[in-house]
Amino acid sequence: DATDKGEYRHYMMKEIYEQPKVIAACLEGRISETKVLTSCFGVDSSFLKDIENVHIVACGTSYHAGMVAKYWIEDLAGLPCSVEVASEYRYRKVAVPKNTLFLTLSQSGETADTLAALRMAKELGYLTSLAICNVPSSTLVRESALTLLTNAGAEIGVASTKAFTTQLTALLITSIAIASEKGALSAEKEAELVTSMRSLPAHIDEALKQDAAIKKVSDRFANKHNALFLGRGPMFPIALEGSLKLKEISYIHAEAYPAGELKHGPLALVDEDMPIITLVPHNNMLDKLKSNLQEVAARGGELYVFADKDTDLHNEDGVIFTEVPKVDEILEPIVHTIPLQLLSYHVAVVKGTDVDQPRNLAKSVTVE
Ligand code: G6P
Repeated sequence: DATDKGEYRHYMMKEIYEQPKVIAACLEGRISETKVLTSCFGVDSSFLKDIENVHIVACGTSYHAGMVAKYWIEDLAGLPCSVEVASEYRYRKVAVPKNTLFLTLSQSGETADTLAALRMAKELGYLTSLAICNVPSSTLVRESALTLLTNAGAEIGVASTKAFTTQLTALLITSIAIASEKGALSAEKEAELVTSMRSLPAHIDEALKQDAAIKKVSDRFANKHNALFLGRGPMFPIALEGSLKLKEISYIHAEAYPAGELKHGPLALVDEDMPIITLVPHNNMLDKLKSNLQEVAARGGELYVFADKDTDLHNEDGVIFTEVPKVDEILEPIVHTIPLQLLSYHVAVVKGTDVDQPRNLAKSVTVE
């Protein structure tokens, strides 16, 4: 029952812990042993073959999910993909290349700007419109040509958690389906990706095991007024999402930067009062990120590093290390989201804010 907090003090925590289950529900019926089942987009999935471009439009946390998908769509399918917040998209003249998919993301399916963007897009000659949404009866689902439901169940905490990770799961399904139908993905590679996806609920479970350790770390944020989140590649949008969570519920001013941009401004802010939260990918960017960390350490910044243990990073002077399970690169953005959700939750509890109902914010912004 969504309205019952069960053993948890807040809905947010309950929803964080529901993630292994709801991600499994999101995968259910959408993948076989070796393939994404394109029937999940409806009886006629022939549009997938025709897609030549993707425009993603969303707000808030859903927008961050879209930013991750851009990396997946360009990497796996080799198609250009742009991502924009709906409040901007709806008020400008948009150039729509031939055979462009219009893809909206929304937990509620009732966000006014996202709905307005969809209505505008219908006049612009898109190939078709696909909504990735959590509420089957929503306006967005009703008005979109195609729907992929995230199946996360009702989300009550204003700060979005399970809706985000199921959106990412649905976006990965979509990216693989497009890549596969466009002939950009070999059958072996698709089977490999699908096998990885199947392991996702277990990896999320493992990531949740750091809860107690993260709770301890969160005490150090009690008197902080600012925080900086760093990531690179598809971990940059996860850094943005981590900073959004922290500001939404703990009211600590937080920003996120792609780590390579440090030198172009944020480094000027770094001193011993500035916690720097870094998401470390385990790929060819690892060494570059390590050198970004040194830039911060040299200026006395307090580093909070989230990485798998094979990255050879660990607790040391000025570095607070939290282990994240080692997973296939494609899953890293999803798994790295978990510790950031836990961090913002525990910091908010330490600060005594209203975790489920942060001041001035609404679960769904249905008016402009
Ligand atoms: C509000 C909520 C956010 C959410 C955003 C977009 O700002 O507080 O959690 O990400 O709206 O909502 P949607 O339902 O369209 O995903």
